[in-house]
Amino acid sequence: MTLKYTYKNVLVDLGSRSYNINIGYNLLANASDFIKPLLPRPKTVVVTDTYLYKNHYLGLKENLDQNNIDHDLIVLEQGERTKSWQNLEYLVEEFLTKKIERNDLVIGLGGGVIGDLTGFAAAITRRGIPFIQIPTTLLAQVDSSVGGKTSINSQQGKNLVGAFYQPRLVLSDLSVLETLSSRDFMAGYGEVLKYGLLGDKGFFEWLESNAKSIKKRDRKAMINIVNRSCKIKSKIVTQDEREKGQRALLNLGHTFGHALETATGYSDKLLHGEAVAIGCKLAFELSYKLGVCSEEDVLRVSKHMTDMGMLNPLVKLKGNLPSINDLIDIMHQDKKSQEGVLNFVLVGGIGQAFLAGNLEMNMVQEVLAENLS
Ligand code: GLY
Repeated sequence: MTLKYTYKNVLVDLGSRSYNINIGYNLLANASDFIKPLLPRPKTVVVTDTYLYKNHYLGLKENLDQNNIDHDLIVLEQGERTKSWQNLEYLVEEFLTKKIERNDLVIGLGGGVIGDLTGFAAAITRRGIPFIQIPTTLLAQVDSSVGGKTSINSQQGKNLVGAFYQPRLVLSDLSVLETLSSRDFMAGYGEVLKYGLLGDKGFFEWLESNAKSIKKRDRKAMINIVNRSCKIKSKIVTQDEREKGQRALLNLGHTFGHALETATGYSDKLLHGEAVAIGCKLAFELSYKLGVCSEEDVLRVSKHMTDMGMLNPLVKLKGNLPSINDLIDIMHQDKKSQEGVLNFVLVGGIGQAFLAGNLEMNMVQEVLAENLS
């Protein structure tokens, strides 16, 4: 049975590499309507993980079968460790063994791990084969599937090997959000909130007023948060695809966040979106200490995060982390630090992020100590 669908569309306008982000419900069950026009011949490969294979792949498969699109399937283990050199090699060799040609298209059905890995494998197979992102977590729908960052992890750190390689289409079926655990959902919401905080006060105010509907995952609210987040990200990526300047604003909360993730071993002790949310709170407090942001805005952000239950992971971290000096050392290892100078994203208020270098580290230390000791 074909389920009805309507969808919103955000264009990522990058000239000949432009693509659509289609956002709606029941899109997986109708995926061929979007995919078929992009295929030079009715053949593709779907890359997914063990969890998604059980829970979401069959809907896609049925629809591809109904539309006579021949497809191979590659199922990888779920989890961050999948973003490895070994799996990159495995995927590329599988694409070649399955006779994927230069103009054929591959599909990544999954969260950030599957999207980043599939995108990178696509970028280097035959010097670049087209790929589609079908993101299946809130975090991937609002962030990692959009903007063409693809990568694997190295022994030296997360996402250190990769390429900017844009997909041909992002198909965001919000039906998948209904089965997401509340922890994964709230982690994704950390990235949604980040967009309001960095560049759109009106969006933040909408989030404040709609906290209850968002927590209930009301369908209209979900379409609005994914659509607006993608519009904000798309605008930034369009202006600065390769992160020479403005795109770095998307790293609001990430310098603190990555230090906390590294300190907790990139494990389920702290999820990426949780770390970003906590990092945003700390960036607001740091901006206040540096005299560039009002206390009122800091309190407003903190209240919204409390209302949404987003500060719970911070409570668990207290007293369970390396020393403040060790955290500062970790920050200096961050790939965003240049010539030993730490680059932070600060805020002049809600919706007003800006880049700042060479900060007074004693202020950073104070913020960490107040929140984590
Ligand atoms: N996740 C940050 C970016 O895409 O630039």
